[in-house]
Amino acid sequence: MCGIVGVLGHHEVAPLLVEALKRLEYRGYDSAGIATVNAGRLDRRRAVGKLVNLSDLLVHEPLAGKAGIGHTRWATHGAATCTNAHPHQAGPVAVVHNGIIENFRELRAELEAAGLPPQTQTDTETVALLTRLHMQRGLDARAAAQATLARLEGAFALLFLFEGEDDLMIAARRGSPLALGHGEGEMFVGSDAIALAPLTDRITYLEEGDHAFVTRAGAQIFDAAGRPVTRETLRIELSQTQVDKAGYKHFMAKEIAQQPSVLGDALAHYLPEDGLNLPADLDFTGVERLTLVACGTAHYACAVAKYWFEALAGLPCEIDVASEFRYRAPPLSERGWAVFVSQSGETADTLAALRHVKGQVARTLAVVNVPTSSIAREADLALPILAGVEVGVASTKAFTCQLLVLAALALKAGRDRGRLDDAAYAAHLETLQALPGLVNQALALAPEIEALAAEVARAQDVLFLGRGPLYPLALEGALKLKEISYIHAEGYASGELKHGPIALIDRDVPVVVLAPHDRLFDKTVSNMQEVMARQGKVLLVSDGPGLRAAGAGTWASLRLPEVAEPFAPIVHAIPVQLLAYYTAIAKGTDVDQPRNLAKSVTVE
Ligand code: F6R
Repeated sequence: MCGIVGVLGHHEVAPLLVEALKRLEYRGYDSAGIATVNAGRLDRRRAVGKLVNLSDLLVHEPLAGKAGIGHTRWATHGAATCTNAHPHQAGPVAVVHNGIIENFRELRAELEAAGLPPQTQTDTETVALLTRLHMQRGLDARAAAQATLARLEGAFALLFLFEGEDDLMIAARRGSPLALGHGEGEMFVGSDAIALAPLTDRITYLEEGDHAFVTRAGAQIFDAAGRPVTRETLRIELSQTQVDKAGYKHFMAKEIAQQPSVLGDALAHYLPEDGLNLPADLDFTGVERLTLVACGTAHYACAVAKYWFEALAGLPCEIDVASEFRYRAPPLSERGWAVFVSQSGETADTLAALRHVKGQVARTLAVVNVPTSSIAREADLALPILAGVEVGVASTKAFTCQLLVLAALALKAGRDRGRLDDAAYAAHLETLQALPGLVNQALALAPEIEALAAEVARAQDVLFLGRGPLYPLALEGALKLKEISYIHAEGYASGELKHGPIALIDRDVPVVVLAPHDRLFDKTVSNMQEVMARQGKVLLVSDGPGLRAAGAGTWASLRLPEVAEPFAPIVHAIPVQLLAYYTAIAKGTDVDQPRNLAKSVTVE
């Protein structure tokens, strides 16, 4: 959600803060700001909109100081205005914050009564005001911050900076991640290691409930009970923090193009040679039911995987979006396993769902891209998807890598449960091994898709249809298109069309039909004919045999390589990603930072 950074350095920190914020901008771009302490004096600069506006402001109104904090915002409480931008300052205290302070209304009332009325609509300002109040009442900076933290409810990461203290930052983690970076006589704080990568590769992750007094000499860390603790310092590999566009126009374009290579990495890890490399004790034999929970694109990966677990392993499988799952009363089985899928590993609802099932199921698994994330750490077992850093807000390579890891799990389940004989197992392994090459062939469709996108960009509505495991792909195609091109799009199960949505069909509505030549092909083609009979403008995405069998009458078609059942969704993901990408380009929208969105959703 929001991005946080802090530096206690030897040099001017404003450029370092802005540089680090640039690497965090994927977390939110409604406004940005920095505060520094210079000669004991606390000062700040803030600007609405993207970080570039803050950079411009700093050219005209520079901010000196060797200690500072910064923030890039995804608005929760209060509009994206300069007043609501972070850092929030109250007298001698400046605060940056990611998350939500749930009891902020109650605190605001108290503050007003104490003569410190809030000036903004944000929940964050109450943190600064409360700390100021504690200082007015005689506490020093450290004690005041601790007294404030004791009053806060919600999920958050916080960083405090104080007037007169140019060698102190106070960091606190409750629900949102925070990393401390170690330099040579310098210290850094960031929402993630990615932000700190140019500054240091030595990182200490705060644990849930920790807070830390950070000075240039190091950090004094306290756990949730206030006891001093030592947390491990890790060396982060460059590959985990690399965030450049590598010559591509957008991160999304780079990440789409990277798929053959990252799928190859995940294959090398999970399917070395011709076997499966999964932890030995991961035995699905007695598992009664699998519950898969995630949000957004990761949820659609689960929806595809449901077909796989059922078909390959005969394993009853339930999927849900995390925000719904955690608030209904899902009956869980003590002999069931629950799987949580998340690129960031920090999505608040998915994390809360994981916490919710603890003790109610036999085992929790995390399928995540960030191995140090909260979801990875809190699950019984974390399986990294090895996609590398994903910066584009629209998830692409993480989706296909999630599918690959889920496919490996489904095969393992099929073997453990005696549902896959040697021949079928070997055939599926062969299909998965071929994926990087097949995805590469799909990527070669880019020029054709770009040409079609020019037409799709003129549409007001687009439908995506698919059957079986291609149905969730239809949902994913619609999500991808709407989030970056702002065109209204819907995904439907092909067979469901005539139960209502067919009313939407006319000659202006492109209908993308995802139909590999599998055992459901004829049925999907019948549904496609129903669309064409009503002047619907069909873009058929299939393979050679499928396109030959479908006959004439479509508006356009895209020929993918043949993929053996049931893994076609992994290859069909490519044209839907490319269609969204080129449509957004044709519309001139901001592909990597679409409006109203942020990469990592750490609030409910
Ligand atoms: C869409 C997209 C989102 C995320 C969702 C979950 O392109 O990226 O729908 O998939 O916010 O995020 P993670 O996977 O980080 O839990």
